[in-house]
Amino acid sequence: MKETEKSNSWRKDFPLLNRDNLIYLDNAATAQKPECVLKAEMDFYTKFNANPLRGFYELAMEATDSYEDARRTVQKFLNARFPEEIIFTRNTTESLNLAAYSYGLSSLSKDDEIVVTIMEHHSNLLPWQMAAAKTGATLRFLECEKDGSISRKQLKEVIGERTKIVAVTHVSNVLGTKTPVEEIVKIAHENEAVVILDAAQSVAHMPVDVQKLNVDFLAFSGHKLYGPIGIGVLYGKKELLEKMPPFLTGGEMIQSVHRESAVFAPLPHKFEAGTVNAAGAAGLAAAIRYIDSIGFDAIEKQEQKLTALAMEELKKIPGISVLGSDKPEEHCGILTFTIEGVHPHDVSAILDSDGIAVRAGHHCAQPLFEYLEIPSATRVSLAFYNTEREVHALAESLGNVRRRMGYEQ
Ligand SMILES: Cc1ncc(COP(=O)(O)O)c(C=O)c1O
Repeated sequence: MKETEKSNSWRKDFPLLNRDNLIYLDNAATAQKPECVLKAEMDFYTKFNANPLRGFYELAMEATDSYEDARRTVQKFLNARFPEEIIFTRNTTESLNLAAYSYGLSSLSKDDEIVVTIMEHHSNLLPWQMAAAKTGATLRFLECEKDGSISRKQLKEVIGERTKIVAVTHVSNVLGTKTPVEEIVKIAHENEAVVILDAAQSVAHMPVDVQKLNVDFLAFSGHKLYGPIGIGVLYGKKELLEKMPPFLTGGEMIQSVHRESAVFAPLPHKFEAGTVNAAGAAGLAAAIRYIDSIGFDAIEKQEQKLTALAMEELKKIPGISVLGSDKPEEHCGILTFTIEGVHPHDVSAILDSDGIAVRAGHHCAQPLFEYLEIPSATRVSLAFYNTEREVHALAESLGNVRRRMGYEQ
């Protein structure tokens, strides 16, 4: 009872969750935003709005301070060594493209290999397909077991002397499995390869410490971390970022410009061309402070409890198969499943008729679905503000899906 009360007390922080007839279980796609995030964005526009990093008048300097404060908040959140290791982007996709266009194209050549997992979101696959096509490098895949695990044998076989880049997801957006980052980093670094971590599905659910993980780059989106849509982060080790060419060019990323040439600004501005999303950065900083105030112990405990309950309930329903591990603690709040004889779009539509929002389709991870030989699936993704009552409502609605599609049960 106490836990339920606690989860309800978090819910009141999220205005959208007051909406009638809504059980929001699509948190891996985007999370809802607490009031403090909305207020921080509004505050930027009502109190500090000027073009950051440009004007020398008081208001513009306050806008700059707000933006650079946000960078330090992200630095502390990831435990990066320096604020200039934090580059603001639009989202994970842009961060990974920055890494691929700038680091990838300038460091890869014909005999090199790029290693990804079969579980990658298209955002961490297509940039590397592009980098391979442009440089002649080869793309190699780490394949997973049915439970999403990747064996040490696979790691040793696929990551080798020719590997220059290992770009892997931290948590699969389909299976919920956590990849063995520590082991990957160790083997990659033994082979002098860099590791790029797609943390889009991990940062909202567990502490992520870039120094402890010793990854070279890390990407995430603010909107999956209870922050605004339109702000993302690329973390990179300073010594690597310093050597990389800019990804986008134009205003704000220069020190001086001449007719035929330009000298680029130092980090982090070299990678932040054009007017920056300062209101989004302020909102992201507010989201991080909000998460800090709850703490990952409480977040993990609540999400774990809900995932275990959801898995137990789903297993009772005839025809449902949950993809990935049998252990709820290996799902990071993500349960993707098929229902025998029912297309996931129909599952989603039936759940929607009961006010339940879930994701259906291939989840931007088509190679994984091909590998698993499943055309598509339905995904439930939980956040700490979800409740046991919502999980029971999901189970009840799912229990009726096959009957509503005309099956006896
Ligand atoms: C693992 C993973 N990587 C990357 C992305 C892309 O995120 P965004 O669309 O915010 O760039 C997602 C989004 O669902 C994801 O789940």
